[in-house]
Amino acid sequence: MAVSVPAGLLAALASARHVVALTGSGISAESGVPTFRDAQTGLWAKFSPEQLATPEAFARDPELVWRWYRWRRDLVARAQPNAGHLALVELAALVPAFALVTQNVDGLHQRAGSRDVVEFHGNILVDRCSVACEGPGPARALPATTSIASTGDDELPRCTACGALLRPGVVWFGEAIPDAALIAAHRAVRECDVFISIGTSSLVFPAAGLASDARRAGAALIEINPSPTPLTAAADFVIEAPAGAALPAIVAALRR
Ligand code: OAD
Repeated sequence: MAVSVPAGLLAALASARHVVALTGSGISAESGVPTFRDAQTGLWAKFSPEQLATPEAFARDPELVWRWYRWRRDLVARAQPNAGHLALVELAALVPAFALVTQNVDGLHQRAGSRDVVEFHGNILVDRCSVACEGPGPARALPATTSIASTGDDELPRCTACGALLRPGVVWFGEAIPDAALIAAHRAVRECDVFISIGTSSLVFPAAGLASDARRAGAALIEINPSPTPLTAAADFVIEAPAGAALPAIVAALRR
């Protein structure tokens, strides 16, 4: 797909001192990982993610929630980073300072080679104690559980320290963003002069508020998304194309 990159967008990036990219599930769509607001398919078609990704769902039926996460872990493990993930690694090397904040829990940015990724919504490949037995602060990440029998609580993974159920290390609806991620994202946004929103519906806060924070700090806003979002009207530059085409086009144009 040929993507035309606005000259003003290139000029903003070429003169930027600090660039922040915020990614959402759209950047992983071309790796075969469904976005959140795509309809679920197959076994999971009758559930919405909102019915499964909540503390209430886990309290009500941890076995169901674990089965869904196990299915998603398998999907993510089979997925490969795509041209969009790889182009962000290159973009980071082309500007003086770069911060990548992701709402994705799939680890594909890290597998593409991005460093210091701020994981706003946690990581699906780690487990943590469901009662945070180690007290306040970030819970200890344990090796991801790969095999869970599909019958009964007895088979679910348990914390070796306190015996409570383990849960996936992601942020669920209604839960707070991990402090370290929030602090790192806010610091990066305060310092940035270009903010790029990629593959996110800009519907879920507080992540969706980072773009307006960047705007208040004086940054230029770029959006990359094939469909309009609540951010589109406020963006200085919009590329209405898949991230896997738009980001390599930006990097190629910057190198010229
Ligand atoms: P959504 O599913 O809300 O939005 C995905 C966005 O990606 C949409 O705006 C699509 O138009 C866009 N998109 C689809 N294919 C694309 C492509 N190839 N290139 C670029 N964009 C594409 O997903 P998120 O915005 O990530 O939170 O959702 C935000 C949060 O809501 C998630 O992190 C998750 C969810 O609830 C939690 O689980 C806490």
